[in-house]
Amino acid sequence: MSNFQNVKGTNDLFKDELKSFNYVKEAFRKYSLNYGFEEIETPVFEDLKVFKRENDTSDMVNKEMYLLGDEKELALRPEGTASVIRAFVQHKLYTNDLPYKLFYMEKMYRKERPQKGRLREFTQLGLEVFGDKNPLIDAEVLAFGYNFLKSIGLTQIKILINTLGDKKSREKYSSALKNYFENYKEQLSEDSKMRLDKNPLRILDTKLEHEKEIVKNAPCIFEFLTEDSKNYFNKVLNYLDVLKIPYEIDQKLVRGLDYYTDTVFEVVSTNKESGAQNALFAGGRYDNLVQYFGGPSISGVGFAMGLERLLILMKIENALNLQDDELDVYIIDLSCGDSYILEVADILRKANLKTELNFYDRKIKAQFKTVERKKAKTVVIIGEDEVKNRVVNIKDIKKQVQKTVIFEEIVNEIKEMLGGENV
Ligand code: HAM
Repeated sequence: MSNFQNVKGTNDLFKDELKSFNYVKEAFRKYSLNYGFEEIETPVFEDLKVFKRENDTSDMVNKEMYLLGDEKELALRPEGTASVIRAFVQHKLYTNDLPYKLFYMEKMYRKERPQKGRLREFTQLGLEVFGDKNPLIDAEVLAFGYNFLKSIGLTQIKILINTLGDKKSREKYSSALKNYFENYKEQLSEDSKMRLDKNPLRILDTKLEHEKEIVKNAPCIFEFLTEDSKNYFNKVLNYLDVLKIPYEIDQKLVRGLDYYTDTVFEVVSTNKESGAQNALFAGGRYDNLVQYFGGPSISGVGFAMGLERLLILMKIENALNLQDDELDVYIIDLSCGDSYILEVADILRKANLKTELNFYDRKIKAQFKTVERKKAKTVVIIGEDEVKNRVVNIKDIKKQVQKTVIFEEIVNEIKEMLGGENV
């Protein structure tokens, strides 16, 4: 066994695992482009201030960031939203037609306790839409996410949705929550006590069982919503109804990050085998972040999906149909490594034919075993006579027919055998 292992909470990706990753990423890229999104990539690390904003009470920002730099002034990105907004403002992308729609597929880093579906290095497939606040856009974003999961074969999913209202609604609700939780202050954890002062809404997101009991009877946001906020939320729900997207209103859903305003949502797996980490994607609207980063007063809405979690569920739901890797050509070499085999491989690859060749001194039987393992459709056999005469023997594996052809005819002959599929 090797003396070195990958760090806990990280994954090596190869073979089918990597194929599955790339399959879902490609599907997400295609889907995003169809919806009119542009791709963006941002650096893996940023100035810490991009993520750590004043009065932020989230665990992600306060406990889970990997810090770097001599003064610990840099951080590995724990999420995509802040980085994308930083880039959106820095490059004045807001001067384009709005809404401006960006998607990303990147690794994120959080110092969490690793378990099934919870990693320290994971991949988010995310998107952000910048522009005027409009419930049509909230609905479109959520519909995108939901329909995407359906399109990759996931069926056991449920949308939970809530609103945090506008500033006025949140102020009224915060003070009602503060009064309520003050009665239980002695029983609250240190984190919740800190949140009681800074942002009592976030106590609703507690993971502690005894605090969850207290949260059960806490007041609900709906009583405190302004007419505008109520109307906004109802419009989002109406649009989802029109699109036949099912959802459940969860009045205690506030999400783990501090920046949300109005619509918030989380899409969870309802399959019992998916385990505790069942949130497949989550997001919401944020009214203040673009301005915080120095841009104009533009709202945004987006979500991020945990790719590793999607794959766990796709395996459980049998939704992964990976294509077998098949070779077009395998070159069997009986010439003891004459450079002619490289020439033949070269013209085949230049003609876009997937080609592999034998490099070692092996018996023909062993080489045919490789042909079988690699599922090659045709075989090119080169011995000393073929080298001398600049010809090859080509065998069609399915039809079991064999022919001798000159160098110049190899590509045509193989394409014919493959039935024109690679022409
Ligand atoms: P988040 O809820 O922190 O939101 O993460 C979004 C998704 O990333 C989760 O639902 C989950 O699927 C995945 N995820 C989070 N942490 C881990 C982990 N440790 N291991 C594996 N998967 C994980 C955000 O990050 C927001 N930026 C989403 C957003 C975009 N809001 C607006 N725009």
